[in-house]
Amino acid sequence: MKRKRRLKKQAKLMIFIIMGIFIVMFVKYQNNWQKDNQISEVLKILNEKNYDEGTLKLIHDKLTAEEIVDLENKQKIKNLELFIKEKYYLHKNLDRYLTYFTTHPEENPSDIIALVNVSGDYEGYSHVKEADLTKKNLILVNKYNKLAQSYIPDGLFNMNLTYAYENRKVNQEVNEAFIKMYKDAKEEGYDLFVTSAFRSFDYQQTLYNNYISMYGVDYANTVSAQAGFSEHQTGLALDILTPGVSMSDFKNTKEYEWLISNSYKYGFILRYPENKTHLTGYAFESWHYRYLGEEIAKKVFDEGITYDEYYAFYLDN
Ligand code: DAL
Ligand code: ZN
Repeated sequence: MKRKRRLKKQAKLMIFIIMGIFIVMFVKYQNNWQKDNQISEVLKILNEKNYDEGTLKLIHDKLTAEEIVDLENKQKIKNLELFIKEKYYLHKNLDRYLTYFTTHPEENPSDIIALVNVSGDYEGYSHVKEADLTKKNLILVNKYNKLAQSYIPDGLFNMNLTYAYENRKVNQEVNEAFIKMYKDAKEEGYDLFVTSAFRSFDYQQTLYNNYISMYGVDYANTVSAQAGFSEHQTGLALDILTPGVSMSDFKNTKEYEWLISNSYKYGFILRYPENKTHLTGYAFESWHYRYLGEEIAKKVFDEGITYDEYYAFYLDN
């Protein structure tokens, strides 16, 4: 009797589970069907604008239903395919890509996309937003994303003198990652040393003003961030050198070679690479490494793009 009741209970449970799966599948199917229908309706309208087959396929494959509606509301765009086929195309930036293309027809679409995605079509320090603190270790701080004067990250840790100059503070996770990297590098015969880590708003202001009085504002802006715009204020950036070598010579050392091939394995990326000034806003800094954690550092490294580009495409979308 007891066994019969148990079997009945189990059968009921099975029926519930099967019904549940059925409902979830039905809702999903219904949603897809609605989306497909919406898309094909809009594609029909776009077809009337005489986009060619290839462009229509790209529109269908890459854009959301809302983005397709947005295209429907626009006049036919002559060079749409050139942009939409690019990997890092962001539809929200289309108008800016096209405006930039009008004034710079000699530049290729993938370069325009990279530039516009990182706000490089705007003057540095214009169109400034508050940096998004909810991104934690992945926060973006650059000439368009700033930190408040009062911002001091939680949990700063005083680095040991083995690894850094006196009184260099950094995020605790970054400290641990650096020590791991330092030890592995040392075993392979490379000597790393931290010269700068967390910098407060006020300290950055002093540095920036010093650069201005020594070299003038234009040069200062290529090598130093204004206060509030420096990654050093996040506690997630380190200037790494090797003892006895100046900043300008560091790029010629074996330590630099080692860092650019290995630092991502410890969660660090070279933040201001050579020939990327138009995207990062700063001249090449062979010594400045940004901690992102191992997973994202590897992704940025593998894609071969700057963090500004990575953030715009994958994290701010
Ligand atoms: N030198 C880097 C850009 C800074 O000042 O944060
Ligand atoms: Zn730095």
